[in-house]
Amino acid sequence: MCGIVGYIGAREATSLLLTGLKELEYRGYDSAGIALLGRDGLRSFRAVGKLVNLVTKVGDYRSQGAVAAIGHTRWATHGKPSEENAHPHGLRHSRVVHNGIIENHAALRAMLAKKFASQTDTEVIVHLFEKHLENMPDASDPELAGLAALRATLDELHGAYAILLITESLPGKILFARKGSPLQFGITADGCHFASSDAPLVGICRETVYLEDGQWGIASADTVRLLDAQGIRVEPKTAALPASSLVAQKEGFRTFMEKEIYEQPRVLADILTGRLRDDAVTLEELPTDWLQRFSGVTLCACGTSYHAALAGSYLLERLARLPVRVEIASEFRYRDPVLDPAGLFIVISQSGETADTLEALKLAKGQGLATLALCNVDNSSIVRTADRSILLRAGIEKGVASTKAFSAQVMTLWLLALYWGTAKATLCRDRLSREVIAVRAAVGVMTPPQGIHDRIHRLSKRYLHGHGFFFIGRDLFYPLALEGALKLKEISYLHAEGYPAGEMKHGPIALADARLFTIALMARNSLYDKVRSNVEELSARDSTIVAITAEPFDLADDIIQIRPYDHPMLEFFEMLTVVQLLALEVATRLGNDVDMPRNLAKSVTVE
Ligand code: M6R
Repeated sequence: MCGIVGYIGAREATSLLLTGLKELEYRGYDSAGIALLGRDGLRSFRAVGKLVNLVTKVGDYRSQGAVAAIGHTRWATHGKPSEENAHPHGLRHSRVVHNGIIENHAALRAMLAKKFASQTDTEVIVHLFEKHLENMPDASDPELAGLAALRATLDELHGAYAILLITESLPGKILFARKGSPLQFGITADGCHFASSDAPLVGICRETVYLEDGQWGIASADTVRLLDAQGIRVEPKTAALPASSLVAQKEGFRTFMEKEIYEQPRVLADILTGRLRDDAVTLEELPTDWLQRFSGVTLCACGTSYHAALAGSYLLERLARLPVRVEIASEFRYRDPVLDPAGLFIVISQSGETADTLEALKLAKGQGLATLALCNVDNSSIVRTADRSILLRAGIEKGVASTKAFSAQVMTLWLLALYWGTAKATLCRDRLSREVIAVRAAVGVMTPPQGIHDRIHRLSKRYLHGHGFFFIGRDLFYPLALEGALKLKEISYLHAEGYPAGEMKHGPIALADARLFTIALMARNSLYDKVRSNVEELSARDSTIVAITAEPFDLADDIIQIRPYDHPMLEFFEMLTVVQLLALEVATRLGNDVDMPRNLAKSVTVE
């Protein structure tokens, strides 16, 4: 998804901006650009596709002396990926980069009645800004005039934005604003640096200021005038940034996704550190008397995190006997939902910046509910908004297709269910002890057994065509089926659906023939016979069956044998690795970019 960087100072700015944009690359984008205002006046460079194309466009150009510079990676929302639609957008005197969506851009275009150079919503910002700047009654103080023009512009925008703007009347300055899309800055001895997330600033700044919604202002190399929505000057609140570079290396793996799949045992071990004492689970983030207040739970998330929420609902119901509802954030936020004020609202997010999840969280908070975030990124918007948070401890996840964050989410939800169940006394001693033994064992389960990756690699060549995949499972293995199908479609671009195994006969079985591939999640500890019957019904109609199971199953065309366990969660985690590897191998054989699949973004900061 779109990313922003900015810099004011005397360092060479093209390489600084390009390095910053490189740090944002993993988020997904389809064009990029930079603009600089310095000794040479305003200079812009834009290119479609990967950053290397922008580097070619920039060529030998290097900034000289003090500059104000902005850069952007764009993930197309309004208008196709093209050079005209790439940011920065400009008019005669100014250039702007923007993350978010200007919802009333069509009305603003009509009102402005100007010729536009792009199809983007962003371009209206620079048109409005220049119009207001020209009409400022007293332009003798360019800084005040610039701020007033920005304020008048912001007042006309509906939607979400993080904006950086440079203009010729303000050399050495950047105007900025944030509403609904993240933006932050840090000041060092050599200048002021902006970014839409931590990554470009790590290694450059020791501290950062995360802008709050509604904040805006103007920055120079060594000072920032930060204003609130009413225009009142506010003191920037600084937060520490990690000292080391976040650049994760592939460590010998072909892709980040593969590396992240193999990191899962370590992630699960990290999650358990300090949280298991003999037969007890402790989550220091949540005092038990706080948890005891709640009569039920709403889990809310998007994509893979939503699948983790669904898995969590089975665990919280079963282990803590709590009423649980699960919501897709993008649906929830416009449904005028009726919420139980005595319930706990839990959002789950890898990035902590997903716009739909963040807005759902704000909605629940606005209705007075207590809120908890399960999130992988400290200091993210979601963590900062929720009353309490549990960090997922998965480490930076670079692959757009989420893998280790999902296992971290499910493990954290399992711990939460056990901790809460203990507090509510819904678990007898024996049950708790069996669960804790399984929790500890899960770490080893996530190391793929000898030979399984090879087997999946060999098998994958038979599953490159066909008219679709159905991943089926029941109970906890239904969310896993959804996740397996999502992984496959995200990176292979093949059609795949996750379905509750018992529902196939209510419609989808009509699709069954030899070119329909059924991936059956057949857990021996969870409704095995029921799922077996559902798979037999599909086999009888000639669907090609791949069974993932520890049991012998002679109706399968292919079996991926997992190890025999006596707990469904252990089967869950081993099957998870299998479906992740299957997606990886199919996509790799098809020659796709596994880490940056087409059309997708790592962090979905627009709705
Ligand atoms: O960062 P979040 O967990 O909030 O992201 C939610 C989804 O956008 C994300 O899980 C998406 O579905 C991934 N591409 C899944 O692999």
